[in-house]
Order: sequence, then C-alpha cells, then structure tokens
Amino acid sequence: MSQVRRATAQAHPNIALIKYWGNRDAYWRIPANDSLSFNLAGLWTRTTVAFRPDLDADRLVLHGREVTGPGLARAQRVLDRVRAASGLTWRAEVVSENNFPMGTGIASSASAFAALALAAAAAAGLDWPEAALSRLARLGSGSAARSVPGGFVIWRAGQGDEDSFAYTFAAADHWALADCIAIVSARPKAVGSSQGHDLAATSPLQAARVADAPRRLALAQDAVLRRDFAQLAEVVELDTHLMHAVMQTSQPRLLYWQAASLEVMHAVRAWRAAGRPVAYTLDAGPNVHVLCPATHADSVAADLAVLPGVTEVRVATVGGPARLLSDDTPRN
Ligand code: PMV
Repeated sequence: MSQVRRATAQAHPNIALIKYWGNRDAYWRIPANDSLSFNLAGLWTRTTVAFRPDLDADRLVLHGREVTGPGLARAQRVLDRVRAASGLTWRAEVVSENNFPMGTGIASSASAFAALALAAAAAAGLDWPEAALSRLARLGSGSAARSVPGGFVIWRAGQGDEDSFAYTFAAADHWALADCIAIVSARPKAVGSSQGHDLAATSPLQAARVADAPRRLALAQDAVLRRDFAQLAEVVELDTHLMHAVMQTSQPRLLYWQAASLEVMHAVRAWRAAGRPVAYTLDAGPNVHVLCPATHADSVAADLAVLPGVTEVRVATVGGPARLLSDDTPRN
C-alpha cells in the first residue's frame, strides 16, 4: 500500500451575509450575483482522500455510511478535475465527517467540498494557489468556493470558470463577530439548494434582487471594514428577506421558514429595537443565524435557547481558511 496517495483537510462552513441564490451557468456553478460571507470557527468537516491503484471505482463514506448516486457523482466532479490536471488515473476513497448536523441550514456542503478540494488536490500532488482551490470547490457546491479562503470573504461571480472564485477581504481577527445558530429543526430539508438555484429564475423578483446585489454587497463590505454593526444588521436582514422572497415566489414555491423561525426573527427585531446589537439571516433551511459582536454571544445564545421551538444553539466565531492536516496536527 506504499503507493497510496493520501491527504486530509479540514474546512469550516460559512454564513453568507450577502447571499448567493441562482446560477447564470448551473453546470459550472457561475452565480447570478457576487456574495459575501464569513467562515464559522468551531464547526468543521474533515475529509481524507486516498487515491489507490487497487480500487475499481471511487468510494465516498460519510459518517461511516457509503454514499452512492448523485452524492457520489458530485464528489466525482471534483476528483475528475484533479485527475485530469495531475495525470493520475487511480480511483479514490473519500472518508468524511462533520461535527454538526447535515442538511439543516448549516451549510454542510460548503465545508464538505472545500475540504474535499484541498485533500484531493494535495493527495494528487497538485500545489495549487488558493484561487484555483476555490474554483475546484465551487464545482461541488457554489458556497464551498467561499470556505476555502479564511475570515471575511467575497466570491466574485466572474464571467466563467476561470474568474469565479472567492478571496479574503478582511482577516478572521479583523472583527470579533459571532453567529449564534438557533436550531429549530434537525430534519433534512425537502428541497436542497442545488434544486433551489434552478428555480430562482422562475421568480419575478429574482431580477430585482440580483440588480440591487452590488449595492448591498458594497454596504456589507464597508460595514465589515469599518466594524459598523448597525449598518451590517440592516443590509444583512434586507438581503436575507430578498432571497427568501425569491424562494417563496418561485415555481414551485419554497417556504423554508417554520413557526419557530419566525419566533426567533421577531425576538431579534425586538432586541435590536431595544438597543441590542443583533441581526438575523437564514439560508435554505429553517434555522436562524443570529449575528452579534462576540462579547454578546453568551447572553444572546442563552436568550435564544429559551425561545419556543428552539432545540439547540450553536455558537461560532469567525474562522480561518480550509487547511491540510498532517497526522500530528492537533485536531481542534
Ligand atoms: O452552495 P449551495 O448550493 O449550498 O448554495 C447555498 C445557498 C445559500 O446558503 C442559501 C446562500 C449562500 O450564499 O450561502
């Protein structure tokens, strides 16, 4: 087995402050608009890729369970690109685990494909720069492009595969923000985001959302750079409502919110009106990500935990980039 080419990588999921919803080119996952996010420290996916001469087919094992069908095909898109670039023809065994629930609105596909991209490229001996790894991760899941760089990140939509990648515009330690994730349902969602992106253009509101996206992104970037929580809160909530308005008016209509999601949104609005620095955002799921300065995270998390329908609160701070792990790297 000395011939096995193996590497392990770890990546964080990310939370988008300015959302990606809808593709200009679904095959290459070229998004309809630029997006902005930060990585979530404390939450991670760890993935080991082993290219082996003795395998007849690629294998994907997620949390100890073999994945076949569309899930495997998505991973193979990344593996195939790495094989084409490196000249390696061996099949791969991919073993992956998360420390958070999948398919619930914490974007597990982002950290999963970012970790896969790094591990696969390294295992095949490719020493690619960050932008190339971000492009590779994007083939599996658009938001995964944003989990490759660290800290506060912008993904420029670009014109095509070559220029559609994410980069850091402020380091993780630039601003101590926290994301208090109010989990209201651990059930996997009915319509996944890949399908959802395909429906975006059926909403009459998508064109307006996309047309105004550069203005919102500039406001969000400026708010992060100046650490202006009030400005960030306004634009983040506007952006999330625009995305959910598109979801709720596409054909078929997607309604990710549950009663408990609304309880949390109303509570956050009331808290902010009373002077507390909090703001919410939701991805393609019912869980509510409540943003606040990290110094407020304990009290916000405690108050979220007692709201009706909230089953758990996970707190994440701003995380670093996806990285390779060696066998002696501390695992935290
Ligand atoms: O990368 P995907 O296909 O899982 O899409 C993510 C879409 C949202 O999470 C809803 C928004 C975003 O920008 O992360």
